Amino acid sequence: MKGVLLAGGTGSRLRPITHTGPKQLIPIANKPVIEYAIDDFKEAGITDIGVILGTQGREAVREYLGDGSRFGVDITYIVQGKPLGLAHAVGCARDFVDGDDFVVYLGDNILNESIADFVRGFEQGEYAAGVALQHVPNPEQFGVATLDEDGNVVRIDEKPDDPEGDLVVIGIYLFSAQVFDAIQRVEPSARGEYEITDAFQILIDEGGPVYSHRVDGWWKDTGRPEDILEANRLILDDIESTIDGTVESGAEVVGKIDLHETATVEDGAVVRGPVSIAEDVVVGDGAYVGPYTSIGPATTIRETHIENSVVIGESTIEAHETFVDSLLGRRTRLESKDGYLPDGRRLVVGENSRLRL
Ligand code: TTP
Repeated sequence: MKGVLLAGGTGSRLRPITHTGPKQLIPIANKPVIEYAIDDFKEAGITDIGVILGTQGREAVREYLGDGSRFGVDITYIVQGKPLGLAHAVGCARDFVDGDDFVVYLGDNILNESIADFVRGFEQGEYAAGVALQHVPNPEQFGVATLDEDGNVVRIDEKPDDPEGDLVVIGIYLFSAQVFDAIQRVEPSARGEYEITDAFQILIDEGGPVYSHRVDGWWKDTGRPEDILEANRLILDDIESTIDGTVESGAEVVGKIDLHETATVEDGAVVRGPVSIAEDVVVGDGAYVGPYTSIGPATTIRETHIENSVVIGESTIEAHETFVDSLLGRRTRLESKDGYLPDGRRLVVGENSRLRL
C-alpha cells in the first residue's frame, strides 16, 4: 500500500495567505497541515509516499518535507503543474503507484482518527476503490454517497440541490490501480476540472465494488480562513500542557499551554489556554493571548489582546487593540497609531485581503 498526498491546487479561497506560500504549509497549532497527513500515513504503516506538487509553492513544500526521513517516511515528488482537478492529480501518480493499491490524502485535510481501520477494511475485500464518509449537517456542499445494503457505494452526487442523505465523501480515498484507466476516460466537468467523483462513478458503473468506511471523529477541510481557525481549535482542544519556555514572575499562565523552550511570557502578560506558542516568541507586557490561539515562531506581542486566532509567524503585534478570529500571515506588523495625526487607520493590505473593522 502506497500513499499519495495532494499538495498542488490554487488555494484561491485562502488568498492573500496563498499568494506567497502553499496552503498545505499553513500551520495548525504550529504544525503545517500537510504534516498531519504524513503522520496519519505513517501510523497506518504507509511510508512510501508520493507528493503531488502544483505550480505555486512547489519549492517550499519540497524544502519542508525533504526526502521524508525527518518524518520517518520516504517521499517521491511528482509534478502535476496546473491544477486540472483531483482526478488529474491522482492520474499523475500512475508510475509511482506502479500497480499497487494506494491511499490518496488531500493535503489540506485533517482527520483526528487513524486511517488504519479504513485501510484494513479495504484490504479485506476485493475492492476497486474506497471512500471515507462522514455525517454532516450541510450535505449539499459536498459529494453525497448512496450505499447499498452491503455498505458499498452505488452513487456519489456532487453538491446536490436536494441531497438524499447526509453521508458525504471526505478527502481521503483508497484506490486499486484500476482507477488509472477510469481517470483516462474522465471528461472535464462544467467548471473545467477532471473530477475525482467522475472517476469513482466509472468504477462503480463497471462493477466496482467501492468500499465505504464511516469516520466518527472530526474531519476538517482547511480550504477557507474560518476552517483554519476551526482546525486550530480542534487540535488545541487535544494538546497536552508542556511549558518548556520561560514564564516570568508576574506573568499569568492558565489552562493548557504548549510553550516552546525558547519562548518567553514576560511579567505583565496573560496567557489563557489552550494556546500554542512557538520558538522565539515573546509575549510581553500588556499582552493577553486567549484561548484557541497559536502564535508562530519569532513573533512579539505587546499591549495587544488576541484570541481564537492563528499568527503564522515572524510578526510584530503591538497595537493597543483586541483581535479575535483572525488569521495573520507571515511577517505581519500590527502597530498602534500613537502620535500620528490625523486620526484613522493606516493600512498596507495585500490583494484579496479581508478586514472587518
Ligand atoms: P481544493 O481545495 O479542492 O482546490 P484548491 O487547492 O485549488 O483550492 P481553491 O478551491 O481554494 O482554489 O484541493 C484539495 C486538495 O487537493 C488541496 O490539497 C490541493 C490539491 N489539489 C491538487 O493537488 N491538484 C489539483 O488539481 C487540485 C484541484 C487540488
